[in-house]
Amino acid sequence: MKIVAFAVGVSLIYASVHETVVGIQHDVGFVKRRSYAAANRVIIEAVPYIREIIHEGHPTLRKVAKKVRLDELRDPLFQQLIDDMFETMYHAPGIGLAAPQVNIGKRLFVVDLQDDHDEHGPLVVVNPKFSTTEGEIESIEGCLSVPGMIGDLKRHERVVCTGLDRFGKKVEVEGTGLFGRCLQHEMDHLDGVLYIDKAQNIRPAHTDEEKAALAEVDGQAQAPERFAEAATA
Ligand code: NI
Repeated sequence: MKIVAFAVGVSLIYASVHETVVGIQHDVGFVKRRSYAAANRVIIEAVPYIREIIHEGHPTLRKVAKKVRLDELRDPLFQQLIDDMFETMYHAPGIGLAAPQVNIGKRLFVVDLQDDHDEHGPLVVVNPKFSTTEGEIESIEGCLSVPGMIGDLKRHERVVCTGLDRFGKKVEVEGTGLFGRCLQHEMDHLDGVLYIDKAQNIRPAHTDEEKAALAEVDGQAQAPERFAEAATA
């Protein structure tokens, strides 16, 4: 009888500890979920979910993100990260999102201007680099990690960005206008740089034009091309 009671007791303690560990692992996200899946041979369903966007002041936003290895890119959970980043960007809503903004210090970003041009996304670039930067334009920018604020800054007028797609194939995209600025904004995130480091006149939206622009990035846009005056990425 004592042996049975002991066995039941041990089982209950094991179940309790197991539940706690599983709960914690679900809470802390990507890395822990992978170790849990590996340890328990669980297949995780590839359902994209919205991740928390971290804000200025979080240390991950200030670190230089690490290059993505090919074997890492092939990991189903890394593919899920990409899907989650799109989901998170659309939900925000925004037109670009870099991995450090969801607290993952890896070199990749997603962009989708959500306009009529196929070349403006949906696009994911892994280990991106600029092979060409030229010209200069001044614009208003915002950032999902610095909510509610905008600022004036200069960007290159035209960039050519190279890197890998989600399957590890080489990609090259040319960006001008808002698309080019978005690529530059996201690239900065991978180097621990926020637009507020470069911008002048950082401010909450005051003028009617600025307020209208912010309303649009908050999801009330009538015409997608009107994202152009305050890109939130
Ligand atoms: Ni940003």
